[in-house]
Amino acid sequence: MIFKKGRPIFYMLMLPILLAACTSEEKTEVADIEPGDYRPAYHYSPPQNWTNDPNGLVYLDGEYHLFYQYNPQGDTWGHMSWAHAVSPDLITWEELPLALAEYPNADSTETMIFSGSVVVDSLNTSGFFEPGFKKGMVAIYTSHVHKDGEGTDQHQSLAYSADKGRTWKYYDKNPVLDLGMKDFRDPSVFRYQGKWKMVVAKPKEYTVLIYESDNLKEWKRLSEFGKMGDMAKIWECPSLFEVPVEGSDTTRWVMMISSAAKDTDFTGMQYFVGNFDGKRFKADKQRGVRRVDYGKDFYAAIPYNNLPADQAKPIILGWASNWAYADKTPTSGYRGMFSLPRQLSLKLDSSGVYHLIQQPIVRKGISTKTLTMKAPDLKAGVILKMDGNSYHLNLTIELAEAENFRVKLFSNEKEASILAYDIATNQLTFDRTKSGNIAFHKKFPSVEIMKVPPVNGELKLDIYVDNSIVEIFANNGVAVLTDLVYPTKKKGEAIIGVN
Ligand code: FRU
Repeated sequence: MIFKKGRPIFYMLMLPILLAACTSEEKTEVADIEPGDYRPAYHYSPPQNWTNDPNGLVYLDGEYHLFYQYNPQGDTWGHMSWAHAVSPDLITWEELPLALAEYPNADSTETMIFSGSVVVDSLNTSGFFEPGFKKGMVAIYTSHVHKDGEGTDQHQSLAYSADKGRTWKYYDKNPVLDLGMKDFRDPSVFRYQGKWKMVVAKPKEYTVLIYESDNLKEWKRLSEFGKMGDMAKIWECPSLFEVPVEGSDTTRWVMMISSAAKDTDFTGMQYFVGNFDGKRFKADKQRGVRRVDYGKDFYAAIPYNNLPADQAKPIILGWASNWAYADKTPTSGYRGMFSLPRQLSLKLDSSGVYHLIQQPIVRKGISTKTLTMKAPDLKAGVILKMDGNSYHLNLTIELAEAENFRVKLFSNEKEASILAYDIATNQLTFDRTKSGNIAFHKKFPSVEIMKVPPVNGELKLDIYVDNSIVEIFANNGVAVLTDLVYPTKKKGEAIIGVN
């Protein structure tokens, strides 16, 4: 149901109108948001219950697998297990039965299945499969031991599947990597130079350890990386992967880490660009912290393993929420969702710095408006009538003589989520302090800032709006911002102008 019967609210549009699609005389019907309306239409969200990190992203035989941190028993964090979905195209997903469940131990403790990765062991290096079987999957996850919810140990363990992830067996000699630590987690394993490599975090020491193995069971420590960049909170979910440099046939390595955000009350992600020689990752010199996403709701992203050879660009997927308030978000029946999958490349700027470029993978056919606006158009303003609250705005703003401008989403008399550009400082801000249902947590109302210098006098904005999430890709993905919003009225329009 789109409009709640019997409660139409008519609302006069205030801005002068540019597009014929809507005149200032026209009245827009709005209705209250129903509890189910926050579920996104083109982002993946679990059918029910709680989710956080994506896990074990791997491609095999025409299927992209998405395993994810999941509580089978409720819509807040707990009983962490791996849920499972598959997709032929990263766009439509089929939900499969739970893959890895929390299990009890002999000594009255329990083991939760924390984050980790999945590899395709096509050479049967692990010996888990029939000789010659090429499609065995091995999951390398953090076994989080706890007693009545209180964590005691974290180590790395294995599970394996001979039926493309549908059923799994835990390795009977787990764990395979144990430093006797309470915090030691989130292994990301990949194949390089004929060996398995693992990056895994010591969260409280801001350190990533790099290991190597022939068989996924015995691991040799190679090196460590860390104690640089953002060290305000903890380091989790590291990943290390090769990324093509645009306009060249070279690659560089990227180390991505989930850690603190700009404001240390929140979690966010940082990255380092550098070189990996098979043993050691050496980061380029960098000024300041490099942020993967400037919003509050992008975390724990990891890359896909085993992509087809013709897909040179890594693909990542992140959890769209923030530990600061994740268990309070006002959705009903489920909690948590994932970002759009993003294809990555690097771009070298004239000062010799590499920038991460992110391009979303999105369903064709979502409602899209493409618009180029110049200074007088911005001044006149425009109201774009969208088909519902799940859409894509593709804007090119020619900045010559333009004033500061704003794009208002989900706006009505009382609320709006506002994207604003400041010409003098090149700052793009996203303000959700009046975005609607914000009272569920005191940290939720926030303003995000990212710097986006124009390119050839233009600013390009790809704004993906999907009921309760806004993902903004500026200048073809050179800067990205992801935020959740919880409007209380449905409006299906975006207002662009200088006011
Ligand atoms: C990151 C994280 C991981 C951990 C998992 C537990 O969001 O804290 O470090 O493995 O979530 O659910």
